[in-house]
Amino acid sequence: MAADPAAAAAAQVPAREPPPPLSIVSALPFWFYLTAAVSLLALLLPHLLSPHAPPPLPPLLRRHLSAGRLLKLHPGPDLFALTSLPASTPAHHPHPVLVLPGLAAGSFSFRRLLSSLSSRGLLAAAIDLPGQGLSPPPPPPPRTNPLREILDRGIFHAFEHLVETGEVPFQDEPAPGASHSFHSPAEAAAAAARAVDALGLGPVHLVIHDSALAAGAALVSANPAAVLSVTLIDATATLPAFPSAVLGVPVLGRLVLSVPALFRGLMRLCCVRGMDAQEADAHRAAMRGEGKRDAVFEAGKAMNQSFDLREWRTSSEEVKSLPMMVLWSGSWSDKWIDEGKKVIAALPGTKFVYHYGGRWPQVDACEEISKLISEFVALLTTADKSTEAHNDHPVS
Ligand SMILES: *[C@@H]1O[C@H](CO)[C@@H](O)[C@H](O)[C@H]1NC(C)=O
Repeated sequence: MAADPAAAAAAQVPAREPPPPLSIVSALPFWFYLTAAVSLLALLLPHLLSPHAPPPLPPLLRRHLSAGRLLKLHPGPDLFALTSLPASTPAHHPHPVLVLPGLAAGSFSFRRLLSSLSSRGLLAAAIDLPGQGLSPPPPPPPRTNPLREILDRGIFHAFEHLVETGEVPFQDEPAPGASHSFHSPAEAAAAAARAVDALGLGPVHLVIHDSALAAGAALVSANPAAVLSVTLIDATATLPAFPSAVLGVPVLGRLVLSVPALFRGLMRLCCVRGMDAQEADAHRAAMRGEGKRDAVFEAGKAMNQSFDLREWRTSSEEVKSLPMMVLWSGSWSDKWIDEGKKVIAALPGTKFVYHYGGRWPQVDACEEISKLISEFVALLTTADKSTEAHNDHPVS
């Protein structure tokens, strides 16, 4: 009965050690439900979730693949490019138009714009940035995402790992190193510059779409003499039209690319007003190839969130004096119009035109965009000719 009161108190009030962030106790039900949900999905949707047996390419994408070519670049990565030649060589030869497509849009979404531009007498080309469109993705990183690992190694692997080691697997993010630099705007710009050389285009009128803004700006800054003018189409450094973050969500990311109606709905919600089923299928297929989903997701993450358009425009004399035009959707959403107003404010003195398309107007307002670009280029070409003429024959 001579109990030590302090010891009794200690026994009643256990020492309050903070629990580990995800203790085994709380993690067990989580992994149980996850594995149960994944097994159920795997049973219900075997053909959808099968990581093997890639379906054949849809005809539209196959045609695109054979119309363009994969440029072998040294150093890599290799890039896919599509070139559209003018039907007839015009008397005066305007410089080519080069398009850098935004995230997930790819040269495929620009194929009709390119042929429309070439029907207006322009040589037009589009380059898929590293890992995007039909450009090959980077070699796979040593670690993959949790769902992929669960599916590859069997759905109970994570559970076994937990029981064996007491650790929750996949807690640490893979190092951002290799993949991040592969998709970084600076690397993408350097690769695109090598592709321009390989295509032998000479100086170009650059067209930058959506998330390609930072890469396009870096391309101009590094090669000012190679760019004659810049056209921005709904360009942004922070808010890509295609919500690439969705692709990183376990199960959902896979479902979006597996269920045609879901993918087409997402396209209409985020990118274009109208897209027919065949075209949506081709876009979907381009993101379903080996490593492509991760490439789109990683490219979204690698965007330069602190890119400053005004700072870039005033960064050098060459950039400052570059003729520029901005094409912006005037009816997509109020939020998007506000983004456009920020762009106008950052680029004083730039020609600014609202178009009737969505955020991928190369798809739903192709002819309108083509006309605006060809008129802009023609104006610069005739301006060029008149100064040349003026220099060649000074007034005596
Ligand atoms: C991101 O953009 C900022 C502002 O334009 C620039 O100073 C910086 O170098 C860019 N970062 C990268 C990694 O390209």
